[in-house]
Amino acid sequence: MPLQLPADLSTRPTPFYLYDLGLLEQTLAAAADAARQHDIQVHYALKANSNAPILERVQRRGFGADCVSGNEVQCALDNGFAPGHVVFAGVGKSDAEINRALAADIWCFNVESAPELAVIDELAGAQGRRARVALRLNPNVDARTHHYITTGLEANKFGINLADLPQVLELLARLPNVELVGLHVHIGSQITDLAVYETLAGRVNELQQWFEHRGIRLGHLNVGGGLGVDYHEPDAHLVPDFDAYFGIFGRLLQRRPGQQVHVELGRSLVAQCGTLVSRVLYVKESQQTSFAILDAGMTELIRPALYQSYHRIENLSGQGPERLYDVVGPICESSDTFGKRVALPETRRGDVVVLRTAGAYGEVMSSGYNLRDKAPAVYLG
Ligand code: LLP
Repeated sequence: MPLQLPADLSTRPTPFYLYDLGLLEQTLAAAADAARQHDIQVHYALKANSNAPILERVQRRGFGADCVSGNEVQCALDNGFAPGHVVFAGVGKSDAEINRALAADIWCFNVESAPELAVIDELAGAQGRRARVALRLNPNVDARTHHYITTGLEANKFGINLADLPQVLELLARLPNVELVGLHVHIGSQITDLAVYETLAGRVNELQQWFEHRGIRLGHLNVGGGLGVDYHEPDAHLVPDFDAYFGIFGRLLQRRPGQQVHVELGRSLVAQCGTLVSRVLYVKESQQTSFAILDAGMTELIRPALYQSYHRIENLSGQGPERLYDVVGPICESSDTFGKRVALPETRRGDVVVLRTAGAYGEVMSSGYNLRDKAPAVYLG
């Protein structure tokens, strides 16, 4: 399906984020079908994109919400997610955030440390409530992805290390206002080697046995998110292979009767439906390099500057033979570069240039650096 642009593009100021809601629906339907087949509950990771039209469609599919701040919890509730389908995760939940989530009676807190557990117990007690908690364990499985987005290794700040688990369970047994309902793991993001999930499923089975040997039955197993997307050839894989992903957990997890399995997908649900649309301000020829200077920069899409991430760049107006350009933004930072030596057709001032696969961790990570205006969102379909 070729990229569709709004008919009034010629008069619409750039940059803006364009979301193809038809593609979003197609993606959500594929994920929902695969999840249903294996009886797995999806909690959408709001951090990937929390725009209301997107949340509305995610929520209508029956997905829950995976939130990592008090504002995300509130945003999920405001956009129609039932409190019983909201999970609150994160390594640094503030007292105010915990209090708000307790008052809203969300489904569960994914707890990352013993001190956090004690604080949740105390705050729940003060509200006369009992908080449902899942322990986030650090399963020590290598996600084989960029080190900035690897989270399941011993050296990461996330999760409870296995060596500390006995102490955490002792603490849990003493706390009156928290109830253990599940186990949570998340090993990283943009995972394209699905064998990693096979290893993870095996590890979760071992962890479950460890709990069972201590007489603890887990109500749910939450295996996190992280399914990757194809940034290089977006049109070849607009909808990720959800059957393969859910199939691994459906097949390999040793599920106990009545036990629920949860996943927290973000990127794979929303990345391909979003495109950053910009125009070329100037083409600057220097001795060895031709720079295509866009009106969008790292303030709109920081992933290339932050993680050296690749986003496919297309000149929708250019004609003629291809040349190599360094495609850069207008921000006063050398890292404000979207791509070096990118092959584009002869590029001129005013050409429309798009950055593909920008629906996840794009708009949400935008900033006002250089006092830039926020790029608006435009929805198609
Ligand atoms: N669950 C937990 C505990 C997480 O930390 C994350 C993402 C997710 C679920 C959702 O993962 P996903 O399915 O979206 O991969 N800003 C980075 C990505 C950071 C991901 C953080 N955690 C990027 O632009 O690549």
